[in-house]
Amino acid sequence: MTGDAPAAPEPGRREVELPDGRTLVVRPSRPDDVDGVELLYAGLSSDDLHLRFFSTYHPRREFFERLVNVAEEGGCCLVAVVDDPAERVVAEAEYLLLPNGNGELAMTVAPDWRGWLGPYLLDALLQAAAARGVPNLEAEVLVENRRMLAVIRRRGYATVDGTDPSEVRLTVGTSTRTPTWPAAHEGPRVLAESRGLWWGGERAAKAAGMQVMVCPGPHAGLECPALHGERCPLVEGADIVVCALAPTPGGDVRAAHASVHPGTTVIVPGAATRPGEFSLGNTTDDTLIGLARRVLAQG
Ligand SMILES: CC(C)(COP(=O)(O)OP(=O)(O)OC[C@H]1O[C@@H](n2cnc3c(N)ncnc32)[C@H](O)[C@@H]1OP(=O)(O)O)[C@@H](O)C(=O)NCCC(=O)NCCS
Repeated sequence: MTGDAPAAPEPGRREVELPDGRTLVVRPSRPDDVDGVELLYAGLSSDDLHLRFFSTYHPRREFFERLVNVAEEGGCCLVAVVDDPAERVVAEAEYLLLPNGNGELAMTVAPDWRGWLGPYLLDALLQAAAARGVPNLEAEVLVENRRMLAVIRRRGYATVDGTDPSEVRLTVGTSTRTPTWPAAHEGPRVLAESRGLWWGGERAAKAAGMQVMVCPGPHAGLECPALHGERCPLVEGADIVVCALAPTPGGDVRAAHASVHPGTTVIVPGAATRPGEFSLGNTTDDTLIGLARRVLAQG
């Protein structure tokens, strides 16, 4: 018997039955979504506009036209639509391609649809990005944007830039448990493992020409691969790991590095107790950078 196989669902496309019997559809945007997306933004408060654009910017028509056609530039925009009673765009999420191969993420959910749709739409966008070979999505988020930070923190994320006190650049892997380093890089790569979004040595390390990513270690959104005996792409891509994570009932990341990533150089506060560890006795930036340079020179 012959016959055409059913077409594979479009990456990112999803349908969900709502309790009121309607169906919410997530799908790639089309040129004729421009009015719907413009209406979505017209329903945002000044605070929302500030969180989305870092100013109370009222986007012009050209902004929405570019957004719904971003696939022409290699990006992807997903819209969530529902009959209300005519089709209404209740959320959108998109990425534009960055020079480093990752996607620049931004998203908006209508105020009356918040509560679950943001994380759901981000899942769909990550899936669409993975299908297109985009390894990570990066987002610039105001530190006051607790909802967006919460959406990202529920995943395996890392901080790419935490040197600005008012905003932070985060990255999420599209098909890996943790994000990955961009392919091209200049200068040594330092992975700082430190609870939360920030690491105190970031500014000094960057000023010394190093590339830095900060991983919060195991948290609600990430089962640390190393604690499960799996190699971590962030550690594998790093020239040095600075591990400030204390052992918890969930596991000891330092011990995991010694067994899962043998040969990795790990700078630790306090005493170095394992092969590959170097002690950061005095935690000033100068000490850290000096030690990092010496360790890199030995490697
Ligand atoms: C950011 C946004 C897309 C998130 O979508 P959402 O549907 O509201 O997401 P949720 O309602 O699931 O909330 C996300 C998280 O924030 C938490 N949250 C909700 N309100 C909160 C508040 N006032 N303070 C702190 N956390 C809050 C939720 O509990 C949830 O956390 P959890 O997943 O750990 O339970 C949406 O709020 C939005 O469009 N905001 C305005 C535009 C914007 O900021 N875009 C992002 C720019 S990069």
